[in-house]
Amino acid sequence: MEKRKLGQSDLYVSPIGLGAWGIGGPPFWNGRDPKTSVATIQKALDLGVNLIDTAPVYGFGLSEELVGQAVAGRRDEVVIATKCGLRWNGPSLKELYKDLSPGSICQEVEDSLRRLKTDRIDLYQVHWPDQKTPVENFMVALALLKAQGKILNIGVSNFDTAMLQKSMGFAPVVSIQPKYNLLERDIESDLLPFCQERHVGVLAYSPLASGMLTGKYSTDAQWTDWRGKGNMGVFQKEQLGQAVAKVEKLKQVAAQLGAPLASLALRWVTNRPGVTCALAGAYTPEQMEANAAAMEIVISQTDMERLTASAQ
Ligand SMILES: NC(=O)c1ccc[n+]([C@@H]2O[C@H](COP(=O)([O-])OP(=O)(O)OC[C@H]3O[C@@H](n4cnc5c(N)ncnc54)[C@H](OP(=O)(O)O)[C@@H]3O)[C@@H](O)[C@H]2O)c1
Repeated sequence: MEKRKLGQSDLYVSPIGLGAWGIGGPPFWNGRDPKTSVATIQKALDLGVNLIDTAPVYGFGLSEELVGQAVAGRRDEVVIATKCGLRWNGPSLKELYKDLSPGSICQEVEDSLRRLKTDRIDLYQVHWPDQKTPVENFMVALALLKAQGKILNIGVSNFDTAMLQKSMGFAPVVSIQPKYNLLERDIESDLLPFCQERHVGVLAYSPLASGMLTGKYSTDAQWTDWRGKGNMGVFQKEQLGQAVAKVEKLKQVAAQLGAPLASLALRWVTNRPGVTCALAGAYTPEQMEANAAAMEIVISQTDMERLTASAQ
C-alpha cells in the first residue's frame, strides 16, 4: 500500500486509515463483538493500512483498549493517532464535556498510554476546540508532552482555519482532522487550500458520510445508533432526503464505472489535492478489505469530475 508523508512530520501513512470510533460502541454506536473489532484492526495492518485513529471518548476507553490489544507485538507497524479534550462524567452523551486545560490533558495522555499499552503516541490530536482554554495554554501543554517523548507529533481536529493558524504559532501542528466527503465539502473553500499552502496533513473523517455513501440506505432507513436521532450531518431530518437523492445519482455513475460506490467515494477523497488520508470506519475484516482495495482503483480526472458533479 502507498504511504504518504503526513504534513511536515516524519510519519508516512497509508491513504486509507482505520477509524476506530464505531468499534467503541455505545454511547454513539451499537455494541460490537470485541473479537471482530480486534480482527478488523489486525486485518488493517495485514493489508498495509498503518494509520489507526481512535480517541478516549470512543466507547469511553474501549476503542483505545481494543487498539492496544490488536497492535500488541506489532507496535512498529502502526501509526497510532488518538485525541484529547473530550471527557465524560458518566456513561451517557449528556455527560460529555470539553476540557483542554493543561492538567486535564496531562491526565488524559497517561490514561491513553495505559489503555493503548504503549510508551508513545505517534499523533496526539486536540479533538474539539474548547471555548474556555486559551489556545496557548493547551498548545504549550502539548509541546511539553512532545518534549517528554510521550507524544511524537501534535495534530488538531474540528478547528477552523483561523484557529489552526493561531495554534501553529505555539507549536508545530502536523495535521488536522476535518469532516470531508462527496456530500460534505465545506473545507474546500478555505481550510484545504490553507493546509496545502502550509504543508499541514489532512486526515479526512467520515469519508463515507458515516455510511450514507455506501448507497445502502433509503429515506426510510431506521438507525438504532446516533444516526437515528436525526440531528447530525447528512442524517439531519432536513438533509436526509437530499442526501439520499444525491446518492441515487452517484449510484448510477458507480454502475457505469463498474465499481462499488463506497470504494469510489473513498478513492474520490484520497484523490483530492491536499488530502493525506481518509479515515474510514470499518467493523469487520471484510469491510476493512473492501476499503483497502478501494485504494487500487484508478479514477480518471473526467470521472472524478462526474462524481463531484453528481453529488451537487
Ligand atoms: N475528529 C472527529 O471529531 C471525528 C468525528 C467523526 C469521525 N471521526 C473519525 O472518522 C472515522 C470514520 O467516521 P465515521 O464512522 O463517521 O464514517 P465513515 O467512515 O464515513 O462511515 C462508516 C460507516 O460506513 C459503513 N461502512 C464502512 N465500510 C464499509 C464497507 N466496506 N461496506 C459497507 N459499509 C461500510 C458502516 O456503516 P454501517 O454501520 O451502517 O454498516 C460504517 O458505520 C471515525 O472512526 C473516527 O476515527 C473523527
